[in-house]
Amino acid sequence: MNSGMILETKDLTIRFGGLTAINKVSTQIPEGKIVSIIGPNGAGKTTLFNLITGALAPTEGEILFEGRSLVGKTTEQIARIGLSRTFQNIRVCTRMSVLDNVMISIQRVPSYNIFAALLRLPDVRRADKLAREQAMEYLRLLGIERYASAAAGSLPYGAQRRLEIARAIATKPKLLLLDEPAAGMNNEECSELVDLIRSIHKSQKLTIMLIEHHMDVVMNLSDEIYVINLGSVLRHGLPEAIQSDPEVIRAYLGERRRRD
Ligand SMILES: Nc1ncnc2c1ncn2[C@@H]1O[C@H](COP(=O)(O)OP(=O)(O)OP(=O)(O)O)[C@@H](O)[C@H]1O
Ligand SMILES: [Mg+2]
Repeated sequence: MNSGMILETKDLTIRFGGLTAINKVSTQIPEGKIVSIIGPNGAGKTTLFNLITGALAPTEGEILFEGRSLVGKTTEQIARIGLSRTFQNIRVCTRMSVLDNVMISIQRVPSYNIFAALLRLPDVRRADKLAREQAMEYLRLLGIERYASAAAGSLPYGAQRRLEIARAIATKPKLLLLDEPAAGMNNEECSELVDLIRSIHKSQKLTIMLIEHHMDVVMNLSDEIYVINLGSVLRHGLPEAIQSDPEVIRAYLGERRRRD
């Protein structure tokens, strides 16, 4: 990977019948940065994540991760390569405990350090203990350790969103895709989330792609922004330039300012 780009999409396109949901989208995501994807409802942002993570197959175009194509790989293979995501609609196992939710993620990645080591250990209980300790670490990192033994479905909404992030980073990804992590949060919760994302970005050495409608979250966190409109890239640039771009304001930001 000489380009410094961890992920690139080239002319990525997907059609659903007559609808071209993503139309020749080319992006370059620099390793170690936080890059946001913004745009109106229905613009194609989640569909872009679905393509990158293998949940949908492109009609045309290419997706390169560290220079290698992801097209044709399963979501499981892509997760093992080092991509992980959260969902716009929370997807935690609601009846399972918070701790077990994270342990499942840890066990999902067979190459995971402690498990490689554990294969040589006769004591299965010790393996379980180590996984538990590791899972607790992620809960601590996300500030939800007090809920460890509670059923995930019983958590307050904001804590469930944090649990989703804990699960996503427990697979030790290189690239984390967050789909509207601040959805439904008030200003105070948004500013806590900004701090949290910043801290995991640093401590886990992640590259992050962030879809978000809360502009304060986007402007606070992003190194770069892509604006998607009607399935195409309308603009790509630095936050300050995007914020004052007349066409972006016309297509998206103006509409949001009127509503907020
Ligand atoms: N599996 C699918 N089959 C058919 N149409 C789909 C499918 N997935 C997405 N679409 C359509 O593609 C378009 C883009 O949807 P997408 O969910 O990517 O938008 P979005 O930018 O994430 O919007 P929002 O901000 O509301 O989450 C929409 O018109 C949607 O109905
Ligand atoms: Mg979406």
